[in-house]
Amino acid sequence: MSNQTTERRPWSFLTELPANVWHSIFRNPLPQSDVGRSSTSFTNFFLHIQPVKVHRHSLRLTYTWGLGLMAFFLFLILSVTGVLLMFYYVPSTTQAYDRMLDLRGTVAFGIFLRNMHRWAAHGMVAVVFLHMCRVFLTGAYKRPREFNWVLGVGLFLLTMFASFTGYLLPWDQLAFWAITVGTSIASYAPVFGKDVKFLLLGDASVGQEALLRFYVLHVAVLPLIMSVLVAVHFWRVRKDGGLSRPPEEDEKFPEPEPIAAAAAADASVVTTVSAVTLKAPLEKKTYGIQGIVRGPFTKIGNVPDGSVFSWPNLLLLELLVFLVTVAGVLIVSMYFNAPLEEPVNIMHPPNPAKAPWYFLGLQEMVSYSAFWGGVGIPTIEVILLLLVPYLDRKPVGVGKWFAKERLLANSLFMTFVVVNIVLMVVGTFFRGPNWEFVSPW
Ligand code: HEM
Repeated sequence: MSNQTTERRPWSFLTELPANVWHSIFRNPLPQSDVGRSSTSFTNFFLHIQPVKVHRHSLRLTYTWGLGLMAFFLFLILSVTGVLLMFYYVPSTTQAYDRMLDLRGTVAFGIFLRNMHRWAAHGMVAVVFLHMCRVFLTGAYKRPREFNWVLGVGLFLLTMFASFTGYLLPWDQLAFWAITVGTSIASYAPVFGKDVKFLLLGDASVGQEALLRFYVLHVAVLPLIMSVLVAVHFWRVRKDGGLSRPPEEDEKFPEPEPIAAAAAADASVVTTVSAVTLKAPLEKKTYGIQGIVRGPFTKIGNVPDGSVFSWPNLLLLELLVFLVTVAGVLIVSMYFNAPLEEPVNIMHPPNPAKAPWYFLGLQEMVSYSAFWGGVGIPTIEVILLLLVPYLDRKPVGVGKWFAKERLLANSLFMTFVVVNIVLMVVGTFFRGPNWEFVSPW
């Protein structure tokens, strides 16, 4: 009888192949229990980036609006479409524009690819800015998240710079004159201004050297730096105790008892274990370390700490944000084509020549004072942004939109936001030839 059941047919390795390959990649079956959910998150490379358990408050879409994730997914879309565009693009002043025409006319889905890349780039600048506003208005930059805010400010500047360097690549009139205006703003800085401009352009004016430099910065240097910073940014979100939340959210659930000495000897990484866990004899537990690490989230069993398993709660939410982001980019790319003007003509500057929209606030300020508008005020703004968490130290109003306790800070920030948006709108819609005020109606 045993011969009958254990005998393997010679071709059984073939029938078992799919299951064997599957199990060699995914070590856990679809999770049915808490241990399974915990194990699935912990042993999967992509899932272990997020915690095994996450606080309920962090899953409220109306808290984050998924903006940080959306920025990340836009970055991914830009990376994929950007690499595909690299197969066609040549960073040469004699070929770049023709390659744009090829994308439009001969390459299958070329125009769609370019649209996706263009609109995702604009979208990312806007979404990263909105994410920064959400973080500020919920007081989420306060201790212990000061440094993550600083990293974020760096990411914001890099996002704008990445978009700016990409702007030149089509080598049409729009690109050429926008970058000519943009880089001349840099030259208004005292002492180093001219050197910075020369460093960026590799020449006295925008030409082949500038195109090559912008290309290398755009496709290699900036994405690489951003990838590292985004990774550190995510890591800090976890190390800072997950997303910010109001203290009341934690007070609903009492702090667990300190761990018993015997349990501490069992696993050196454990600092405390919940009272509920202690009721069960620890030596009988077979959970991996993921079950007992007491971070802000990870516990064994249904510990009443306001957290839920990331699988499937967080995962489904992430999937939703991903789908919304991809759908948004696809729909916009279907209906609107990325602009492509006449090829570069250095003898015929458009009047007015305008920088990309996110720099039009700067350009508007430059029209009042070259130094203060182009360099002085923006530098002060960036320094103030970087210092925000070190100036505003009171641990009040964290984790709530427009908290009463933060009325002054939020009002100052909103003034900064509104002034910048108004300047941008004026620069975009209300400025005509010679930068004269015109009515768009
Ligand atoms: C490439 C740009 C960025 C990406 C991909 C990104 C991504 C994320 C993600 C996914 C989160 C967690 C979920 C969420 O809050 O939506 C987060 C949180 C955070 N981000 Fe960003 N972010 C970026 C830029 C920024 C900027 C510009 C700032 C501020 C200047 C910032 C500051 C923060 C802070 C302080 C947190 C923790 C928030 C909390 O605990 O509530 N990030 N970021």
